[in-house]
Amino acid sequence: MTERLVTLLSAEEIAARVRELGAEITREYTGRPLVLVCVLKGSFVFAADLARAIDLPVRIDFLGVRSYGVDTETSGVVQITQDLSRPIEGEHVLLVEDIVDTGLTIAHLINLLRTRGPTSVRVCALLHKPARARIQVKIDYLGFTIEDRFVVGFGLDFAERYRNLPYIGVIEHS
Ligand code: IMP
Ligand code: MG
Repeated sequence: MTERLVTLLSAEEIAARVRELGAEITREYTGRPLVLVCVLKGSFVFAADLARAIDLPVRIDFLGVRSYGVDTETSGVVQITQDLSRPIEGEHVLLVEDIVDTGLTIAHLINLLRTRGPTSVRVCALLHKPARARIQVKIDYLGFTIEDRFVVGFGLDFAERYRNLPYIGVIEHS
């Protein structure tokens, strides 16, 4: 069986959309110091680009999360593998996610961060697969809505592979 990667979103399309999201976030958070919380590992590429598209003083922190095993199905159980390095009390927090699929991970993270007394918690996701939603979550800033396909690249993995692809693709087997 051979594997072939088909491009779903090119590096250029992603870059253009990230610039737009950065401009929107810059407009809305002007005068309000912002903490970007990058959800590891999948969001590291998106967060790095998004942070550079935001023209404001931001603090960046990381939250390590595991919701999938080696399979492509979510377990619904969210395990924290690395916590934030500082408190977020009184801060405006923007959670940066690679993809909202069932919504279980991001819903869990929003609830977790809210217990720490931030002034606000919003969500910025590069991708959204509404077909698989199991819980409704408001995505305040969204890159792209996609079909129910398992995608890789730009930080997203399949069994830890493909995170370094500069675009988002779909694996096809033949
Ligand atoms: P959720 O809890 O089902 O919304 O899953 C969110 C997490 O599952 C994301 O942060 C990704 O790490 C992973 N995930 C969901 N869909 C995909 C996909 O199509 N490709 C790679 N990872 C995915
Ligand atoms: Mg993942």
